[in-house]
Amino acid sequence: MATLLVCSATDDLHTLQTALAQAAAPVMPDLQVRLWPEAADAADVLAVAAWHPPAGLLNTLPQLQLIASIGAGVEHILRLSDLPPEVPISRIVDSQQARGMAEFILWATLHFHRQMDLVLQQHAQRIWRMPPQRAAVECRVGIMGLGAMGEQAARCLRDNGFTVSGWSRSKHGIAGVDTYAGDAELKPFLAPLDVVVCLLPLTASTYGICNAAFFSQVKPGAALINAGRGEHVVTEDLLAALDSGRLRGAVLDTFAQEPLSPEDLLWNHPAILVTPHMASAASESEIARQIVDNLLRIRSGKSPLHTIDRERRY
Ligand code: GLV
Repeated sequence: MATLLVCSATDDLHTLQTALAQAAAPVMPDLQVRLWPEAADAADVLAVAAWHPPAGLLNTLPQLQLIASIGAGVEHILRLSDLPPEVPISRIVDSQQARGMAEFILWATLHFHRQMDLVLQQHAQRIWRMPPQRAAVECRVGIMGLGAMGEQAARCLRDNGFTVSGWSRSKHGIAGVDTYAGDAELKPFLAPLDVVVCLLPLTASTYGICNAAFFSQVKPGAALINAGRGEHVVTEDLLAALDSGRLRGAVLDTFAQEPLSPEDLLWNHPAILVTPHMASAASESEIARQIVDNLLRIRSGKSPLHTIDRERRY
């Protein structure tokens, strides 16, 4: 029987399995939705819906026609060494997820702009001291990565009065946002920023981009918000930049190893606020809708939507 296999080596995807089965039932009644490692006949598996899929699975599925990431990112799939070469890889592209990301970035920017980092320290010591207030326009926020999420975050910050700029691989135009592109423009982009936001895709050229050289280019006292991927940040270099006072603080939402171990040093650093990869996710019903829609497209001979370029890696 035609099978959609839901798989993750890291997360429990039971409720997504149910959402996928509900979305498929009216339009593809012959499709069964199985949750790995439940037994399924490998030859029946037409597609996988994956989040950190286990190694050694995808290349055992001879009829595989789609590898669907259940998130916006696909690096958790591309990192597999046994990825079948020709099978299209799709990702979720959701305007509601982009809105959620913009909300998170606005909150984290306000955390620094309204000095909540300082206020929380004062709270712990029962200190009543009003921090000075600056106008949003005086706070320069730079978004690295101007895909759907980065662009929405940039517009949201702009509309809330911040002075916003953006940096990406190729030049983008966003009204009211100064944009920079490519390696040569990273330094002038970073230099004036009070808050640096990383929303880049994880590629060979962005892996470890927030490193010692990067932190030496930011304005002293700037803050970092990382809602891209944990691997964008070199942890030791971040800690050194915080400890030297070069950086004022960081909100970190993503980590190379998730969940972040209770022993991890990042939890205890006074200038770091750890959030549990919560910045934004598409709803399960939307994920299921997009994946089932792609299966219907494949069945009717059309190309699936939102596929990624394996070379570019997003
Ligand atoms: C979240 O990190 C996603 O990739 O959607």
